[in-house]
Amino acid sequence: MFNDFRSFIDELIKIGDIVKTTGADWNLEIGAVTELMALRRGPALLFDEVKGYPKGYRIASNVIMTPSRQKLAFGFPEGLSDLEIVRQWRGKFNQYRPLPPIEVKTGPIMENKSTGEAIDILKFPAPKWHHRDGGRYIGTGVVNIVRDPDDGWVNCGTYRVMVHNEKTLAYYVSPGKHANIIRQKYWAKGESCPVVMCFGQDLILFAMSGMGLPWHMAEMEVVGYLKNKPLEVIKGEITGLPIPATAEIAVEGFAPPPSVSCKPEGPFGEWTGYYASGAREEPIVDIKALYYRDDPIMHGHPPVPPPANSWWPIPIQTASLLWNRLEIVGIPGIQGVYTHGPGTRIVSVISIKQMYLGHANQVGALAISLLSGGSCTGRYAIVVDEDIDASNWDEVMWAMTTRCDPENSIQIVRGFLSSPLDPMLSPDKREAGDFTTAKVIINACRPYHWMKSFPPVNKATDELKKRVLEKWPHIFK
Ligand SMILES: Cc1cc2nc3c(=O)[nH]c(=O)nc-3n(C[C@H](O)[C@H](O)[C@H](O)COP(=O)(O)O)c2cc1C
Repeated sequence: MFNDFRSFIDELIKIGDIVKTTGADWNLEIGAVTELMALRRGPALLFDEVKGYPKGYRIASNVIMTPSRQKLAFGFPEGLSDLEIVRQWRGKFNQYRPLPPIEVKTGPIMENKSTGEAIDILKFPAPKWHHRDGGRYIGTGVVNIVRDPDDGWVNCGTYRVMVHNEKTLAYYVSPGKHANIIRQKYWAKGESCPVVMCFGQDLILFAMSGMGLPWHMAEMEVVGYLKNKPLEVIKGEITGLPIPATAEIAVEGFAPPPSVSCKPEGPFGEWTGYYASGAREEPIVDIKALYYRDDPIMHGHPPVPPPANSWWPIPIQTASLLWNRLEIVGIPGIQGVYTHGPGTRIVSVISIKQMYLGHANQVGALAISLLSGGSCTGRYAIVVDEDIDASNWDEVMWAMTTRCDPENSIQIVRGFLSSPLDPMLSPDKREAGDFTTAKVIINACRPYHWMKSFPPVNKATDELKKRVLEKWPHIFK
């Protein structure tokens, strides 16, 4: 794994998997190039000499948009299947032992510092990514850091950040997210919530920040564990919060209670592929200190429309958690868990070896509750037999279309938390602040009680396939 964001970019330069571009405009051009390249599943992008900005103030986008770059970033060998990667990743979480960050006196992030009047976040070429966006978003590949005032737990989360002016940011945190719960605790006492935001950092930290880890699991400690090396942090002079020492750009500041100050946030082209949440009054961050490395590289990770995926191509952040949670509950027979759809989180597929009557429905009901967090997350849970590879959407479709009785195999459960980003929230529900959604459980397994007489599958046996592969190897090259 890599030491910091720029060492990963250096590696991409070395292997020729990143394209350098000069002269692009922050106003829509960077966003459009990013979208087009993501749709082509092409190389990563490094923008320099952005229009109106000096050389060296760079933005890197699409850095982990392909499975091969994701594998490189996380240290997975090329040959592993996507499902195997999810399996390995969940194994790591099963062995988890916290490795806390260590405080260091200084680090690269302190190479440049401004406070007071000198603070100017607009010195970085934050893009307006999509044409209906309400502003420039510096925070897309972002890590937001807050501390629980009750017990000191430090939480990292990825929440989009819009620039209002040189010293003010607005950020959007969905209901139920940990940073939302934490900042409310400060606000309930009439205090501002101390915040650190990093706009370019170690990709493992970024990954943990966007992963729905349980309450009280500290992302920075998980990073230490995964890298087998404590994350180096510098104690922020203003907030006391830990600032990752190798971050590219970071701010310290305070989010005042919404009753004191709020600003419009959005619209923003969202990960579902829509502008569902429009513009709302959202909490702001008053920047009190700005830090950045020489020749900083902002991490751009904006949503892009399907079939490109806005998040990780291999869903280690959602599928591995769901898999572990199902097993912790004690469910037998789980063969594979995978997630599909925008954000690789709307559809979960669980393949099982059916062992008893009702097994498939039990798994579906649990999965539908356990995969949660954010707009329409986990809206569909599909349970398939063990001969179906949960990561292979074509196989899942085959099971859904041939082993699922529309009358009896589909259940709808209601009243789960979604978010204002959900494009299917009706105007009435949105108006009433009712950000809930129904979810669907699809049992696409052979019916348990007549499984043995279910029509046999039409495909060559493994033994026959092996034999013909050996006999005519040249035609299968
Ligand atoms: C690229 C990316 C962008 C995200 N943007 C947002 C966002 O703007 N608002 C939000 O509430 N969650 C967003 N999320 C989801 C949260 O980061 C995720 O649910 C995370 O688990 C939140 O941290 P928490 O579990 O500590 O609450 C984003 C995730 C990723 C990977």
